[in-house]
Amino acid sequence: MPLILETIVTTAAADGAVHLVPFGLIREGEDYWVAPFRPSPTIANLEAQPYFAAVAPADIRVIAGCVTGRRGWPTVPCRSIPVPRLAEAYGHMELQVVEVRDDPVRPRFRGRVVHEEAHQPFLGHNRAVNAVLEAAILSTRLHMLNPETVLAELHHHRIAVEKTAGPAEREAWNWIAARVAAALPQAAAATLAVDDA
Ligand SMILES: Cc1cc2nc3c(=O)[nH]c(=O)nc-3n(C[C@H](O)[C@H](O)[C@H](O)COP(=O)(O)O)c2cc1C
Repeated sequence: MPLILETIVTTAAADGAVHLVPFGLIREGEDYWVAPFRPSPTIANLEAQPYFAAVAPADIRVIAGCVTGRRGWPTVPCRSIPVPRLAEAYGHMELQVVEVRDDPVRPRFRGRVVHEEAHQPFLGHNRAVNAVLEAAILSTRLHMLNPETVLAELHHHRIAVEKTAGPAEREAWNWIAARVAAALPQAAAATLAVDDA
């Protein structure tokens, strides 16, 4: 299996409207594939403007927010491509699409890095951030996965949040917990939230 980087990807429509969404970028050599499931505005945007920016967000609320209807995160212009990037980031890459593999379910766009930049120091791993990341991905796949399995996994991840989260990670976790509780009728879905710090 190739390495996958979980990032926030920005693309722009022909009229310039920016679309911001978490995507796993699949590394191949020096390139990164972005693979959006249909339907996705990202697909039309990449067809209209074959560029995307990808950031590693320092605030996990951006990822949790994007999958719970909170997409109004500030963006700034990129240096080498006509698409903005998420402002808040450890670092970012600017990519040009150099190949498209069409597919009725999940087309793939190969991005070639034309610029990359670091913005703030990365000072240490945090288990709650990883837990929120896993929960965010699970929350977008509730329709594909067995609910009991998902809830068992989420309750396992919740332990790391209880033990290691700061206020931002708790808030992010609770956004996901609310989304899951709204989607699943099981009692275990209602007990995912953690206390505010
Ligand atoms: C960390 C993370 C990685 C994701 N990676 C992908 C991906 O590679 N492809 C995809 O279609 N959806 C992926 N998703 C789910 C999308 O972010 C989610 O379905 C989003 O709502 C799609 O937005 P759009 O329909 O506006 O493009 C990912 C979600 C998370 C939290």
